[in-house]
Amino acid sequence: MPDSLIDLRSDTVTRPTPGMREAMATAEVGDDVYGEDPTVTALEAEVAALFGHEAALFAPSGSMANQIALQLVVPPAHELLCDADAHVVTYEIGAAAAYGGISSRTWPAVGADIDPDVVAAMVRPDGYFAVPTRAIAVEQTHNRGGGGVIPLATLRELRRVADEAQLALHCDGARIWHAHVADGVPLVEYGRLFDTMSVCLSKGLGAPVGSLVVGSAEKIERARFIRKRMGGGMRQVGVLAAAGRYALAHHVERLAEDHAKAARLAEAVAPFGVLATPARTNIVPLDLTKSPLDAHALAAAARDEGLLISVLGPRTARLVTHMDVDDAAVDRAVDILTRVLRR
Ligand SMILES: Cc1ncc(COP(=O)(O)O)c(C=O)c1O
Repeated sequence: MPDSLIDLRSDTVTRPTPGMREAMATAEVGDDVYGEDPTVTALEAEVAALFGHEAALFAPSGSMANQIALQLVVPPAHELLCDADAHVVTYEIGAAAAYGGISSRTWPAVGADIDPDVVAAMVRPDGYFAVPTRAIAVEQTHNRGGGGVIPLATLRELRRVADEAQLALHCDGARIWHAHVADGVPLVEYGRLFDTMSVCLSKGLGAPVGSLVVGSAEKIERARFIRKRMGGGMRQVGVLAAAGRYALAHHVERLAEDHAKAARLAEAVAPFGVLATPARTNIVPLDLTKSPLDAHALAAAARDEGLLISVLGPRTARLVTHMDVDDAAVDRAVDILTRVLRR
């Protein structure tokens, strides 16, 4: 991708910084399938502690981390509840059904704006007649929900719903760091609420690869088995874990800068009536239903001017800020977007 292009498609497009590359180059490594990579072991302990859990497991992707976690909490022929826009049912290519034999049922797509009573009413009891519910999954922050942050009070209510029905609560926390920075909720406070979490080092934090499954020691022991079965056992992967440790040490608090950049972009497009919801974190969701441009036309026109954006649907698109777009690039993006939307 030429450096002259401004890439606002996703926060996954970042490249390792010189400091991160240095950490990777000097990482101590070993064979992690034998449990002998000290850098991976250190990362796993660090992430478990951040969320106040007993253990964590390094996985090659957010999708695999989610799917390992779902297999931990939902047995085959049982059910997961999540929202219709959740990453686990939108972008993970049927993995819960294919790998875990898991049935998924969704509440209507409302992003981070969840009504716990709606979720509670969906729970199906044990028995042989209907698929019994075993877990609820939420996404913090919510990707297709425009980077929205589920309020702590809602999560506590969902925990109550889960406890009353004896269900597990899973968090797809690919961008939980963004929620922590936006709402000031300590990571350990989030950790307390969930049985399992997946958290990602390569969305916004700038690591090239890597997610972790977080949970009890017993669950993570089983997670190691499931990861191996899915082909996710990795060898001298301390070079990647070192990038993750570096990201955690240097790139969490700076997410506030990405949120500020998203707010600037949101402010610039709002007068054109295309801002779907306020930008809470690093995602600016665009709703083009009232615009003369559909999403493909907007993306094509922006691309002609040197700006890449994501098309999510015929009339929905998204801008995502990250550490590889600086303030000057955001100024240029604002200029391009206002020119294109004014046409
Ligand atoms: C909310 C959320 N969860 C999970 C994932 C999956 O991560 P990966 O692309 O590493 O599989 C993504 C990817 O963008 C995501 O946005």
